Amino acid sequence: MFDKNIFKLNGIKRVFVLLVGLAISQAFFILGQAYFLALVISRLWSGQVFKNQINYILLFFLCYLCRHLLTFFRDRYLDAYARQQAKLLRTELLEKIFRMGPTLIQKHGTGNVTTMLIEGIHQVENYLQLILVKIINMTVIPIVLLVGIFILDWESGVVLFLVFPLIIIFMIILGYAAQSKADRQYRTFQILSNHFIDSLRGIDTLQVFGISKKYEKSIYQTSENFRKATISTLKVAILSTFALDFFTTLSVAIVAVLLGLRLLDGNILLFPALTTLILAPEYFLPIRDFASDYHATLDGKNAMAEMGTIISEQEAEIKQMPLQKWSAQGHAQFNQLSYRYEQKLALSDVSFSVSGFQKIGIVGMSGSGKSTLINLISGFFQPTQGEFKIDQVALKNLSQKDWQRQLAYIPQNPYIFHKTLRENLAFYHPEATDEQLMAVINQLDLQGLLDELPAGLDTVIGDGKRSLSGGQAQRVALARALLDSERKILLFDEPTAHLDIETELALKEKMLPLMANKLVFFATHRLHWMHEMDYILVLAQGRLVEAGTYDELRAKQGAFTQLIQEMRGHQHAKN
Ligand SMILES: Nc1ncnc2c1ncn2[C@@H]1O[C@H](COP(=O)(O)OP(=O)(O)O)[C@@H](O)[C@H]1O
Ligand SMILES: [Mg+2]
Repeated sequence: MFDKNIFKLNGIKRVFVLLVGLAISQAFFILGQAYFLALVISRLWSGQVFKNQINYILLFFLCYLCRHLLTFFRDRYLDAYARQQAKLLRTELLEKIFRMGPTLIQKHGTGNVTTMLIEGIHQVENYLQLILVKIINMTVIPIVLLVGIFILDWESGVVLFLVFPLIIIFMIILGYAAQSKADRQYRTFQILSNHFIDSLRGIDTLQVFGISKKYEKSIYQTSENFRKATISTLKVAILSTFALDFFTTLSVAIVAVLLGLRLLDGNILLFPALTTLILAPEYFLPIRDFASDYHATLDGKNAMAEMGTIISEQEAEIKQMPLQKWSAQGHAQFNQLSYRYEQKLALSDVSFSVSGFQKIGIVGMSGSGKSTLINLISGFFQPTQGEFKIDQVALKNLSQKDWQRQLAYIPQNPYIFHKTLRENLAFYHPEATDEQLMAVINQLDLQGLLDELPAGLDTVIGDGKRSLSGGQAQRVALARALLDSERKILLFDEPTAHLDIETELALKEKMLPLMANKLVFFATHRLHWMHEMDYILVLAQGRLVEAGTYDELRAKQGAFTQLIQEMRGHQHAKN
């Protein structure tokens, strides 16, 4: 019924106490309502004048009004509470996701996390709004009413008392069935959303390979599965609502028949009989209320449980040590780094050290672990084993603010935000002036792009608007790095891999001056860059197989030379 994460919510105890208090007062208003209504009717029945009953009628309306006002204000309060908690939950989730980064997304799936943040949060909000009050009403109100009924007429009390546990047992059985259906529904929904987002991201590839039609079928199949799961949940939901309504109506009818028979025999007076009869449906109302919304809230419960597992996901403890700004005297040691994706060991036992403003080339075939190493250096991944030493400070990982604030990362496909060119350029350095912007635009030959844009620097670019060519996007990314001169550490991950050779050479000319007086890590499999590097790390299958300067490595005639030959297509016969 409750997800245990509910008890971790802020201020939940107060909400519980408040709701129990409200439920008790509501029960008393229901009693009052029945009492005064029955009183007026039985008095009129016994021939009293209407005028004398006005006060009781007013009291009846007062009870009625108070009961519904309570509901109104309670719902408003709960709305606000649920909204606020949902907001907190979303913030907490987002923070967690940002802290854990790719590790978490990989584990749970992009689509899944996205759905959780958008859809899931709403479901949880809905769940909180409904479930708390229903459960508390269901436990509190019938008890108070039952006590009232026992006082009025213990025989009806016994009947109602005996029926209640039966209904509860019955509901629990149906609840289990519904839960397993709802679990299945939630799982198929997750599959659907992951599948959908994956297809959306890969749509270019799918189109190019002409398999988008086939994929269409598979999306259709997944959504069919979801539809079936939903319908079968609904079936159970409707069946159980029907069964419950049937049994509760039957119970009320039994009470009514028994009361009627006893009235005929003259064993009971009209007033207690009438009050009991009015109260009998009220006695079952909270449980029917609960049952009718129970299925609607199951997905909220599931979403909440899922969020709970994400929020409680283990994070490597990060001790933030103060780090110096990187300088010409800087020294960093990378000791026996290993990184493992779920089953695959992508880097093992990689050690090297760098100092000052060096340019470090990282080369290797595709899949050799270059990106993984760059991600470790950036602090984006936490090493499975090994540690870093920056200026003698030993660190388990590099997700240090002091470190990351000095980095600029330039990937193969830099992300161009759906924002103005100005905002895209000034990404690391929002205070950049127009002069500064124009200087980098000149320096990186972006004048051509700027001239094409109708509103100049304030033209919105990126996704769907004005897409940039690969070379332009890369220049924008470089300009970002260039604008913030505080960022002395540049991480390149195959920045030119998708550019043609002319564009690459033109860009290279612009890039090299940028790398002066910086610590540069440059991962690529385009080996002509290695002439410009001060030190080269050669990776093969996750291991550091060679390291040294260009001349040293060439003289060695080892892995680096072999790589050059393989890249040229002169595959040497293996000896
Ligand atoms: N998300 C991932 N999950 C599992 N294995 C991965 C993942 N990313 C990369 N790998 C594996 O780790 C190894 C190193 O990958 P990567 O660092 O991307 O190599 P490179 O950048 O040199 O091409 C490869 O064998 C690759 O298959
Ligand atoms: Mg890579």
